[in-house]
Amino acid sequence: MLNNKLNKNLRVASSHPLGAMTAEEAFLWEKLDLTRLPRHVAVIMDGNGRWAQKRHLPRIAGHRSGTQSARTTIETCARLKVEALTLYAFSVENWRRPKTEIDFLMALLREYLRKEMPLLQKNEIRMRFLGRLDELPAAVQKDAREAMEKTAGNKGMELCVALNYGGRAEIVDAMNAILSERNGHGIPHKVTEEQVSQHLYTEGLPDPDLLIRTSGEMRVSNFLLWQIAYAEIFVTETLWPDFNRARLLEALLEYQKRERRYGGIGEGERSDEKPARAAGH
Ligand code: FPP
Repeated sequence: MLNNKLNKNLRVASSHPLGAMTAEEAFLWEKLDLTRLPRHVAVIMDGNGRWAQKRHLPRIAGHRSGTQSARTTIETCARLKVEALTLYAFSVENWRRPKTEIDFLMALLREYLRKEMPLLQKNEIRMRFLGRLDELPAAVQKDAREAMEKTAGNKGMELCVALNYGGRAEIVDAMNAILSERNGHGIPHKVTEEQVSQHLYTEGLPDPDLLIRTSGEMRVSNFLLWQIAYAEIFVTETLWPDFNRARLLEALLEYQKRERRYGGIGEGERSDEKPARAAGH
C-alpha cells in the first residue's frame, strides 16, 4: 500500500478528459457523477493577500500566484463542459485598496488575457465581462473588448470575469435599463423577475448552481446577489492560490451531495398532494 505522500504524487497517464491526473484527483474523479454537474459555477477567489503574508511576500505575489488557480479552474471547468464559470476578479469596493495594488491587478489581468488567449481558444471558451466596464482604465476596456471579440465565435464554456462588479450596482443598472426602455413608451406594466434577469449583466446565462468561496469567510460580498438566490454555497478554508484541481473536484462532489429544494420539500418527504401554487406566485 502506498503511503499518502507517494499516493498524492503518483501520476495516472490516460487519454482522460482532464489529461494526466494525480492519484488524489483520480480518486475524486471516480466519485464524480458527470451527469449532475453544475451548469454554472461562480467563484469568490479570496485569500491571495493572506497566502502572500504567510510566506512573507508582498500581497501582489499572492495575486500572481492566484492566476495559476484561475487557469486550472477555467481549464478544468471547460473540459468538464460546465456551461458557465464566473470569477470575481475586482469589485466596486476594491477601489479602496492602495493604488499600487489596483494598478498591479489591472496589469495582471491584461497580461493574463494576452498570455492565456491560446488556452481560451483551444478550449473553445467565450469570454464575457460583468461589471461597469466603462469606469475602468481605457487600456483594460480595450483588452476586455478584444478578448470578447476574439472568442465570440467559440462554442464551449462561457467564462465571465466580474470586473468593477457590484451586485447592488448590477441591479440598479438593470432597473435603469428597464426604465430607459420604457421612456416615451409609457408602458404601465409592472416589472417581472424575468425582465430583471434579462437586464442583468448575466443576461442569457443560467443562474449559478454552485458558489465557491475560498479562504473561509462566510460572506457573499455583493457578488451576483440576484443570481445566487438558490445557489449551493461551498466555503473552503483553502486560500485561493492553493485552490488546485483536487480542491475543485472536492467542491463539485460536495455540490452533488446537496439536495436542492428550491423552497419545496425534500425527495424523501414527497406527498401525493399537488403543490398549492406554482413557484413564484
Ligand atoms: C482576493 O484576495 C482577490 C482579489 C481581489 C483579486 C483576484 C484576482 C486574481 C486572482 C487575478 C487574476 C484574475 C483572473 C480572472 C485571471 P485578497 O487580496 O482579498 O486576499 P486577502 O483577503 O487574503 O487579503
